[in-house]
Amino acid sequence: MTTASKIGLFQFKGCNFITNIHNPEYLAEICHFEIKESDVITVTYPKSGTTWMQQILCLLYSNGDPALVQSKLTVERVPWMEVPIDNSKDILLPHLRVTHLPYRLIPKTLKKGNGKVIYVARNPKDVAVSLYHFQNYVTFLETPSSFQEFLEDFIDGRLIYCSWFDHIIDWYSHKDEFDFLFLTYEDMKKDLKGSIQKICDFLGKKLDEDKLDLMVEECSFKAMRKNPKANYEHVEGKHPKGSFLRKGIVGDWKNLFTVAQSEMFDRIYQERMKDFPFKFIWDSK
Ligand code: A3P
Repeated sequence: MTTASKIGLFQFKGCNFITNIHNPEYLAEICHFEIKESDVITVTYPKSGTTWMQQILCLLYSNGDPALVQSKLTVERVPWMEVPIDNSKDILLPHLRVTHLPYRLIPKTLKKGNGKVIYVARNPKDVAVSLYHFQNYVTFLETPSSFQEFLEDFIDGRLIYCSWFDHIIDWYSHKDEFDFLFLTYEDMKKDLKGSIQKICDFLGKKLDEDKLDLMVEECSFKAMRKNPKANYEHVEGKHPKGSFLRKGIVGDWKNLFTVAQSEMFDRIYQERMKDFPFKFIWDSK
């Protein structure tokens, strides 16, 4: 373990983790975890719609019944792969796990093709803005001194889980090793029901129309924001103002990026992502 340059972070095998959430001994074990055929692993870079996908999968594996999402916390329903599990608690949905891990740190059995991977990506300007607000909201990460400085850290991968670019490029370039579904936050915003149907098809699940409609309702930003088991209001270490489920929109970056910052980001994006075969949606129009 080495200390990362930012307060609240440490490095493990070149990736930045959160000091008061992760521990290096546990991280070192992950490569030996046994992944089963029936396991479904949600993979995201932070602030890309992780909590949203956890909500969707939990409802799907509860056959659309909202009882579990209303009575148990998100992290209890779909636990983190990289956070030690409290063995005294029941594992509610044993097939479901979520992770922000870079490809190189995941279990070997997952790389061998056991389990299914759902990768949720979000346009990186909105990711940066969401993460910036998050770092201003929580007390266990460094409060950015300015958006400019934060953006440079984001681009250079000095924040939690390092570089957005490396994360998506690495995962996507290995996608053929997995039973792999690639979804975007923007597509989920545009057509949540259609996205849930895609997930159902990928997982071989069938839900009737009524249940699907109920799921769409339960997974809406409005419903999740109101749901104390999904909105992270229980988490300690945050300032009084703000929220985890903050705006939930596409294109909020336009409210924070200056024209110069946007142009600088576009140049770097074009350079880093030139071989990436996918085009993001950058605004809600
Ligand atoms: P904003 O900060 O832009 O509002 P993660 O769960 O990966 O940390 O991502 C958090 C982001 O996803 C936040 O973005 C949050 O508001 C958004 N989000 C969570 N649930 C959502 C939902 N049901 N609909 C739209 N956005 C959602």
